[in-house]
Amino acid sequence: MASPVRVVITGAAGQIGYSLVQMVCRGDVFGPTTGVIVHLLDIPPMLEALGGLVMELEDCAFPLLKGVVATADVQQAFSDVDAAFLVGAMPRREGMERKDLLSANVKIFKAQGQALDQYAKKSVKILVVGNPANTNAAICSKYAPSIPKENFTAMTRLDQNRACAQIAKRLNKSAEQVKNVIIWGNHSSTQFPDASAGIICDDSSCQKVVDAIKDEAYLNGDFITTVQKRGQAVIQARKLSSAMSAAKAACDHMRDWWFGTKAGEFVSMGVISDGSYGAAKDVIFSFPVEIKDGQWKIHQGLSLTPFAQEKIKITSDELVEEKEAALTVCQD
Ligand code: NAI
Repeated sequence: MASPVRVVITGAAGQIGYSLVQMVCRGDVFGPTTGVIVHLLDIPPMLEALGGLVMELEDCAFPLLKGVVATADVQQAFSDVDAAFLVGAMPRREGMERKDLLSANVKIFKAQGQALDQYAKKSVKILVVGNPANTNAAICSKYAPSIPKENFTAMTRLDQNRACAQIAKRLNKSAEQVKNVIIWGNHSSTQFPDASAGIICDDSSCQKVVDAIKDEAYLNGDFITTVQKRGQAVIQARKLSSAMSAAKAACDHMRDWWFGTKAGEFVSMGVISDGSYGAAKDVIFSFPVEIKDGQWKIHQGLSLTPFAQEKIKITSDELVEEKEAALTVCQD
């Protein structure tokens, strides 16, 4: 068996944490033969609940679980970690806008960036889930200058999974048959879900999603708004934000980063922008990426219609604004 991977999950006592930790311990992320030592971080008032989670983890008797560190101390939580799921933050409640969350949450990610900088391995792969995820990732990176910028990513995989599921449902197929449907920009209502490079495959062949759906008005209309508003729809129904699906998406993101994407396939990740496809530089922008040997690369060469260019500009402008607001909050 390979040596165990040290994985920190912040906000472990929360609802995403509850689903995520068992997926990680089951081998869904680092593979079925790699042991894991999980570091579970939450805030002091949640330590009792975290203790309950530790009991449950023991009772699961996961063969791959080689150790648990449950703590409210960032030094303990981040020491020597190989992978970080930064989930802990205040979640959006019904009627709350993402902007309200920004002030509260970016300060958490400033402090955690500083802690990662001091205590984590320099090769640590960081996935920010807590909202506003893209901007939190940008702040975290800014305050962790000794860790490469490429190691900070934000989660738009849930949006991608939602988009694939919508296409699959309409075509009466399964979601894993739908590939290369992507999310551009921010994990917010300005995100641009884009099926124009998407394909749908069965055992023997693949077809373009646009040719299978044959409904441009849907793909440029209801498809986009359904995916953009899916988070709100789940909150309205559950009175809580998406949790199981968010944990599954976090696992998908980290697993693909760890093991790579298949030839000819790309996935959506919020990564540091180099200005590709007209996006603003230096924000954490969701692009189509290919991954090999643990390194992501923006997939180039997709053609963008004027419609797509406009959508990318809207979400890019929002990210620039959000980052400026976050930097102001951090200087206070
Ligand atoms: P939750 O409220 O159930 O859990 C959050 C946990 O974080 C709580 O246990 C809380 O005590 C903890 N926490 C707060 N401040 C912390 C800190 N400074 N250090 C460590 N832990 C801290 O929330 P839930 O549902 O698990 O969601 C977590 C975050 O994920 C929210 O920000 C939510 O908006 C976001 N989210 C992001 C998605 C995405 O696609 N990027 C999808 C769904 C949720």
